[in-house]
Amino acid sequence: MTRTRAFTPSPALLGLALPLALAVSAGACDPDEGPAREDPEAILAAVVDYESTMERVDLNGVETIHPVAGGGKTAQIWATPEAAAIFRTLDFDAPPPAEGSVEFPQGTIFVKAIFEPDTGEALDVLQIAAKFEPGYHPAAADWWYAITTRSGEVLMEVEGKGGEVEFCRDCHDSMGGDWDRVIPLSADNLR
Ligand code: HEC
Repeated sequence: MTRTRAFTPSPALLGLALPLALAVSAGACDPDEGPAREDPEAILAAVVDYESTMERVDLNGVETIHPVAGGGKTAQIWATPEAAAIFRTLDFDAPPPAEGSVEFPQGTIFVKAIFEPDTGEALDVLQIAAKFEPGYHPAAADWWYAITTRSGEVLMEVEGKGGEVEFCRDCHDSMGGDWDRVIPLSADNLR
């Protein structure tokens, strides 16, 4: 008897598999449900492990102008892998790309971690931008912003998409409007 690698299911198995497959796909893409919702609590939990789950994109630290950090600090920028790959193609000094050509996927997380420039000591502050589902907050291209400690506790009640984070949005709009509200680095400061 010859064996083939092709799997020919018996009619009985097909009878079982088909309703199962239908049930699964109906649950996964019910048109009334829209895209999966991002959960702020899940983002806050995820950023705690940013050094093991995300990729660093700056080469040697960034002298940051971020107002919250007090100015004069050094920042590291980390991103979820897919977003890191996009970020590495951007260059703050290059001519802006075609409008709308840069888009970070839902589920993107950026973490900006702040350090003392002299000692390298990590400050207990993370600044976070996360891309939520389409329609979450069109005025901010669906970005969610927060400031937290390194253990994910929200600081200064800056979290979400409302008035508390408008200043994040405003600056990222004006400086990062060409890149889906993300502000790139210069190409020579990328890793
Ligand atoms: C005055 C302008 C300004 C404001 C306000 C601001 N940012 Fe930024 N942000 C920047 C700049 C510029 C960068 C690029 C890195 C750098 O130069 O520090 C950046 C980078 C970031 C990054 C890394 C991803 C990227 O876009 O490069 C995150 C995350 C971030 N900011 C979060 C926040 C959050 C959260 C707030 C509000 C609490 C905020 N930012 C407010 C200017 C600003």
